[in-house]
Amino acid sequence: MMRRPAALVALCAVLALSTQALAAELPQRWVSAGGALSEWVSALGGEQRLVGVDTTSQHPASLKALPSIGYQRQLSAEGILSLRPDVLVGTDEMGPPPVLAQIRNAGVRVELFSSKAELGAVDDTLHHLGQLLGRESKAAELAADYRQQLQQLQGQIKQAQTGQEAPGVLLLVGHAGAKPMIAGQGTAGDWVLRQAGGRNLADHQGYKDFSVEALAALNPDVVVFSDRALSGEQALQALLKQNPALAVSRAARERRLVSFDPTLLVGGLGPRLPSALHALAASFYPAAKASLNP
Ligand code: HEM
Repeated sequence: MMRRPAALVALCAVLALSTQALAAELPQRWVSAGGALSEWVSALGGEQRLVGVDTTSQHPASLKALPSIGYQRQLSAEGILSLRPDVLVGTDEMGPPPVLAQIRNAGVRVELFSSKAELGAVDDTLHHLGQLLGRESKAAELAADYRQQLQQLQGQIKQAQTGQEAPGVLLLVGHAGAKPMIAGQGTAGDWVLRQAGGRNLADHQGYKDFSVEALAALNPDVVVFSDRALSGEQALQALLKQNPALAVSRAARERRLVSFDPTLLVGGLGPRLPSALHALAASFYPAAKASLNP
């Protein structure tokens, strides 16, 4: 038998120990706030580490079985601390700030991510989560794949635009009966509309209350509607009932009202967006529908 040099054996032992030590340092008990962020944790294979999620974390459906920490914008410290997490991950939508400070003071790591609607933020989120989970190469793979899917869609939209002009569109975010807000510049909603090949007619910044006059003047070709309590046809009927001005818009007359899952608009840009964008683009460019399906 060949004698293994003692130094090599010792080196291997040290290496094995330090890898173990590194793994032990990674947070084991995770609480996550923000739908898209929780989806990325799952996509990176971190779902078993989650011990709680907020109410916007609904995908994959298995997350709904976890203890709830309430709405990401209105967290309470007691609920989160009772889950004894090592880390709370969330985006800048998460709050309120005094609660985050309380959680930090109790010794829980709070890791913040960007909810900005831009590809660079997806790269950063994946890189950061990859490090926290010890899954860096998987994270790099997902980031490259995401970019590639969106590039492919842009090519297909360019093609569709040779046969049809970009439609003028609006995205309304309904809040369970409260007045809907229109997605303006700099929002995830605006990014979604543009990526799907629409021309967002709203030029204000952020999400703003919906005004009937403004809507009538803008006369969109397509209205996209997102409501956390209602979905599909039900959401659209409620919208038309609450806002009769919409009923006379070109979009309503031509029945171009499309509902959009609100969990795609919270916690940054998430992994289900590329396929949702394909479907949205197909509704913006009906003639090119067949080639736009993912
Ligand atoms: C599944 C998705 C969502 C759920 C479960 C949810 C839930 C809630 C809840 C419970 C509130 C507290 C006030 C209320 O009851 O109306 C709220 C407020 C709010 N939501 Fe959402 N929401 C969702 C999606 C969204 C989206 C897509 C946006 C923006 C694009 C948004 C922006 C806001 C804002 C700005 C407030 C007011 C925040 C405050 O006053 O602190 N939410 N939401």
